[in-house]
Amino acid sequence: MCDAWNPTQYEKFKNERSQPFFDLMDFIHPEKFASAIDLGCGTGELTRVMHERFHPSFTLGMDSSQAMLTKADEFSSASLSFAADNIDAWEQPSSFDLIISNAALQWSPDHPGLFKRLKNSLRTGGQLAVQMPMNHDYPTHLLSSAMSQEDGWQTALGGKVYDKPKTMLSVEQYATLLFKLGFREQRVELKVYGHLLESREDVISWVRGSMLTYFEKNMPAENYAAFLQEYRERLFAILPDDKPFFYPFKRIFLWARS
Ligand SMILES: C[S@@+](CC[C@H](N)C(=O)[O-])C[C@H]1O[C@@H](n2cnc3c(N)ncnc32)[C@H](O)[C@@H]1O
Repeated sequence: MCDAWNPTQYEKFKNERSQPFFDLMDFIHPEKFASAIDLGCGTGELTRVMHERFHPSFTLGMDSSQAMLTKADEFSSASLSFAADNIDAWEQPSSFDLIISNAALQWSPDHPGLFKRLKNSLRTGGQLAVQMPMNHDYPTHLLSSAMSQEDGWQTALGGKVYDKPKTMLSVEQYATLLFKLGFREQRVELKVYGHLLESREDVISWVRGSMLTYFEKNMPAENYAAFLQEYRERLFAILPDDKPFFYPFKRIFLWARS
């Protein structure tokens, strides 16, 4: 869970971050949805886009971050609500016709258990549509993962290790998991988004709004400042000083029908 979510930092690359959401919407087969849920809805802005596009009778946006939910409040209506909850333990048997999640499930541990709970929460014939960043083999993530396992930083993290590669399955493992869970149809795709940034400085800005929030949340502030400085130096020893900087970013799309 992460309540280090900083809506301002996160929204810096708003357009780049919302495009995958619109691509995810294109995976959904429009039909009559009685109830929909958006897991890890963030500011709720995109939850409302989904709600207005597919017109479920009722949509719930849920998130564990109060900072995000406070922003989401402004999009509430009679048929669109927001509530605090934790994806890591969430399950509502046979309750939804549509479950979506954009850029949120990658934080949760135990994906086989998580997707089982999602399957159980769908009504028969319901649709699941998930998009997750899958860039954990890029230097930004390999470096933070390596640093989290070094003595000094591990102590600052209170013994925690950042190990996304262990959380995320491979593309084919997700496809197999969906099949084994009994989904009747599926579409699983990996897409590379090429982001043209002004310089590699922007890569740091980008990950500060997402992956590095884990470190921000789990370290005392003075340690995080030192961590950020070392992270920047070590990352810049790997990434070329190109201007503009081409930042390849992989994302996985999972669609399945129960
Ligand atoms: C990258 S943001 C995406 C927000 C939104 N879906 C969007 O596309 O704009 C990830 C969101 O997931 C939420 N989140 C992360 N872990 C969570 C958990 N265990 N339970 C509920 N929400 C969680 C964060 O608070 C954050 O708002």
